[in-house]
Amino acid sequence: MSERDGREWWQDGIIYQIYPRSFADGNGDGIGDLRGIVERLDYLRDLGVDGLWLSPINPSPMHDFGYDVSDYRDIAAEFGTFEDFRTLLAEAHARGIRIVLDLVLNHTSHEHLWFQESRTARDSPKRDWYIWHDGHNGQPPNNWCASFGGKAWEWDEATSQYYLHSFLPQQPDVNWRSPELKAAMWDVVRYWLDMGVDGFRLDVVNWFLKDAELRDNPTKWLGARPYDRQRHLYDRDRPETVEVMKELRQVVDAYPARMTVGEVYREPPGSPALAASYYARGEGLHLAFNFAFLYCKWKASAFADRVDEWEELLGPDCWPVYTLNNHDQPRSYSRYGVGGESDPRARVAAAMLFTLRGTPFIYYGEEIGMRDGTLKKAELHDPVGKRYWPFHPGRDPERTPMQWDDAPHAGFTTGTPWLPVNDDFREVNVWRQDRDPDSLLHWYRALIRLRRREPALHRGAYRRLPDTDAALFTYSREWEHDRIVVLLNFDRMPHEAHVPAGSTWEVCLGTRQRAGDTLPGGPVRLAAYEVLIVKTRRGAGA
Ligand code: NOJ
Ligand code: CA
Repeated sequence: MSERDGREWWQDGIIYQIYPRSFADGNGDGIGDLRGIVERLDYLRDLGVDGLWLSPINPSPMHDFGYDVSDYRDIAAEFGTFEDFRTLLAEAHARGIRIVLDLVLNHTSHEHLWFQESRTARDSPKRDWYIWHDGHNGQPPNNWCASFGGKAWEWDEATSQYYLHSFLPQQPDVNWRSPELKAAMWDVVRYWLDMGVDGFRLDVVNWFLKDAELRDNPTKWLGARPYDRQRHLYDRDRPETVEVMKELRQVVDAYPARMTVGEVYREPPGSPALAASYYARGEGLHLAFNFAFLYCKWKASAFADRVDEWEELLGPDCWPVYTLNNHDQPRSYSRYGVGGESDPRARVAAAMLFTLRGTPFIYYGEEIGMRDGTLKKAELHDPVGKRYWPFHPGRDPERTPMQWDDAPHAGFTTGTPWLPVNDDFREVNVWRQDRDPDSLLHWYRALIRLRRREPALHRGAYRRLPDTDAALFTYSREWEHDRIVVLLNFDRMPHEAHVPAGSTWEVCLGTRQRAGDTLPGGPVRLAAYEVLIVKTRRGAGA
C-alpha cells in the first residue's frame, strides 16, 4: 500500500461510495450496517473497486443521518460496534480495498460534549470552540442564512447569545480560528489514521472558515430561497480555509499512502477556480470533488467543456475527481432517463467516467442502474429533506436500499427496510445482472478492468480531439507508447466520428464492436449511444 512509481492508490483506483444505512443489513433491523458491508466485500472486490468511502458512521442523533456527529471517536450503535469496524477494515484490506471515512469537521451535533460544554457559560473553556455572538437590537448578528433554510443563527437562552449553524440548528459550526479546536480536530484525524484508515472524505470543507468580522453577505434578486439570494462572500469559501487545508495535508502526509478528498460544493454556476484552489497546487487537499457532472444536461459538449475547464485549471500536477452520483443528488439513471434511454446513456456516461484522467467515484447501485425511489410523502425519512429541502422530495429517493436480488426487500434486509425498496428490484438487481453478460453491471466491470489494465487510461495525459460533431465527445489518453482514443456518441442517432489516421487501431472495448478487432484510422460511423474505445502503439503502421 505504499507509493508505486510516484503514483498513489487513489490516483489509479476507483472509489465506491457506500451510504451505510442503505447498503446491506447484517442483523435484520432494517438499517444497513458494517456487518452487512463485510458480507458484501467479495462483490465489491469482483466489481474491481479500490476504495470504499463510507458516509458517516460515528454516533449521531441522526438529524442529518450522521452528518451531525456527537462523538468523533466511536461507531454509531445502529451501524455496529468498534469490533465490527476493525473487522471491516481488516477484511477490506485483505482484499486490497481501502477504507475512506467521512469526516464532518465543519460542525458537530448539538449533542456533542464539546458543544454541551461550550453552551454552559460565556466563560466556558470551550466557548470559542463554536461561533457565539451577541445580537443587534434583538436580531441575529448578521444576515447569514442556513443552507438548509432559515437563519444561520440560533438564540440560546442559557447565555443570551446566538450560535452559528450553516446547516441545521442541531449542527452548530465549530470555530476553526480557535487553536484548541483545531488541535482537537487534528487529533481526531490522527486517531483514525493510527487505526489504519486510508483516507477521508471531508464534508463541506469550503465552509470551515467564516469572515472574522462576520460581515453581512451582499444580497441579489434572483434565487429560490433567501439563502440563494445572497452572494456567499463571508460565510464560506474564505481564502483562509486553504491554509487550514495545508495544515491538514501535513497531518495526513505524516502517514504513508493516505488521502483526503474534499467536498467543495459550489452552487452552479459557481467558480471552478475557487474549487481548484483547495488543492493549493499540491499542498492542500489531495483531491477536491468536481461536481459539475451532477448538473450537466445530456449533451456531449456539456460534459466535454467541464472536463476541459477542469483540466486547464488543475494542470498536470493536480489530480481530478469526477462523479455522476452521490447521496445528495438525484441519481444519474433517473436524471438521464428520458424516453427509456437511461440504459444506453448510463453506458456512455460510465465509459466517460472510467476513461477520463482522474479518480472516478461511483455511488452504490449506480453499477446496476438503480433509479431514484418514488416515495410517498409519508415514507420520507431524511429530516433535512422533509423540513427544508427546497424541491420535494428531498434526498431519500437516491438513498433507497441496495438491490441485491429478487428476494423480499431485494435481499437488503430480512426485516423491514428503513426506506422502501424500489419497486423495480425484481428486474434491477445484482443477482440478475451478474447472470446476464450484457447487463450494465458487466459493462461497469469491463470498464473498470480496462482502466486497471491500461496505464494510458489510469495515468495518461488527456487531450480532447477536434471532432466538430456536437453529438460526440472524443478524446485521447496517452502514456509512453500507448495511445487510446475514446469515442462517445451522446445521441440517439448515428454520427460519423474520426479515429486519427496513420495507425492501425485495436478495439479495447465497445458497445457494438468486439474487443480485439482492428480498424484503420479515418471516419467511423457510431451507432446511437455507441461507445468505442480503441488503442494503438506508437509506431504501429497503417
Ligand atoms: C454535505 C453532505 O453530503 C450532506 O449530506 C450533509 O447534509 C451536509 N454536507 C451537511 O453536513
Ligand atoms: Ca442493521
